[in-house]
Amino acid sequence: MTKQSQPTQRKIKVAASILAADFGHLAAAVDRAEQAGVDRIHVDVMDGHFVPNISIGTPVVASLRKVTSLPLETHLMIDEPIRYLELFQQAGSDSLLVHVEGQSNLHRTVQAAKDLGIGIGVVINPATPVDAVDAIIDQVDQVLVMTVDPGFGGQALIPSTLAKVIALRDKIDTAGLQCELSVDGGISPATAPEAIAAGADVLVAGSAIFRSESSIADAVDALG
Ligand code: DX5
Ligand code: ZN
Repeated sequence: MTKQSQPTQRKIKVAASILAADFGHLAAAVDRAEQAGVDRIHVDVMDGHFVPNISIGTPVVASLRKVTSLPLETHLMIDEPIRYLELFQQAGSDSLLVHVEGQSNLHRTVQAAKDLGIGIGVVINPATPVDAVDAIIDQVDQVLVMTVDPGFGGQALIPSTLAKVIALRDKIDTAGLQCELSVDGGISPATAPEAIAAGADVLVAGSAIFRSESSIADAVDALG
């Protein structure tokens, strides 16, 4: 799905986070999201250390790779993600998202992903200032602002995070960079317009897509 936001005419993309899907019927959920026109599938990987929750890993990415042609974006909520970049690439991830908080050498991690020929984005938690990405923003494909504390779906968007989206939009535009600016957490029909107005061009949504009372198609449409 590609939508136009006003007044900037940025193309808004939707990434469907499968964390909120029924894992017993994952292929069907992803297929419905694909039919609904989402731009990519967002896979949340949690290790129980970096975040207080455990989710899924490379086997699920490999299985998804067989059932969808959409890009698979893997959000690594794990300590020292550099250890797993190649495994996720081999499993079928098209791009990886790594947190600035979860590692001792961000530049090396970004470079390792680029050497693998895979898309790379950096993520900042709600309490992390935007300056944390200053030294790397010109080297990545995406900057993702967590609009909730990572680890769980279904949380309410933290309003103060939108000021960081505004600041990053300004940094990206001022520097003339091409990187995407994403938001993840608590994105719904109610909050999506605020996130877009703040400058986001990728909306990651789980509950709003897979746990909506309406169809997945209508739920995706409502994010626009
Ligand atoms: C949270 C994950 C999100 C999560 C979003 O740690 O990174 O991608 O699935 O879920 P919702 O859209 O339900 O807030
Ligand atoms: Zn995520």
